[in-house]
Amino acid sequence: MKKNLQIPPDLIPFFRTNHAGETGAVYIYKAILYVSKNKEIVNFATNHLKTESEHLKLIENILEKRHRSKLIFLWKIAGFTTGLIPSLFSKKFVFATIFYVESFVEKHYQEQIDMLGSKSKNNELKKFLKKLQEDEISHKDDAILEVSKFSYFHKIWGQIVGMGSAFAVKISMYI
Ligand SMILES: [Fe+2]
Ligand SMILES: [Fe+2]
Repeated sequence: MKKNLQIPPDLIPFFRTNHAGETGAVYIYKAILYVSKNKEIVNFATNHLKTESEHLKLIENILEKRHRSKLIFLWKIAGFTTGLIPSLFSKKFVFATIFYVESFVEKHYQEQIDMLGSKSKNNELKKFLKKLQEDEISHKDDAILEVSKFSYFHKIWGQIVGMGSAFAVKISMYI
């Protein structure tokens, strides 16, 4: 992927949220790997961590340091906590969490893809976001394979994760 991809000024805040989000994603999987001894989970999280680290690097290649969130430490803690809590409970809870997180990210990237519209000058950046989004969708699909039915508890947690992610996006749009 091109290193010299230009981010239009109006999309810089969105890319700040993307950078914050991918940082959080890396820490979600780090936390899961920190706690879980289950082979299936370790495999799942190792593979996903690899992709999320690549995403982070790709965004770092095109988003200047001065445009990144000043609260990176907070996004690391938030991500780590989001991965840690379900890991202390059950395998299913971990997969459910990933499903909720990735569903949020899929929509977040879609919003930006829509913003870029059909202008040909935005094609490269659109491709860039679509590639990230595709990976997130496959992460979501990996997770849903393991959770055939969400419990009431999972759904409440899903709401918390969704609201937390939306809140993090709102803050990192500015700081
Ligand atoms: Fe990602
Ligand atoms: Fe992902």
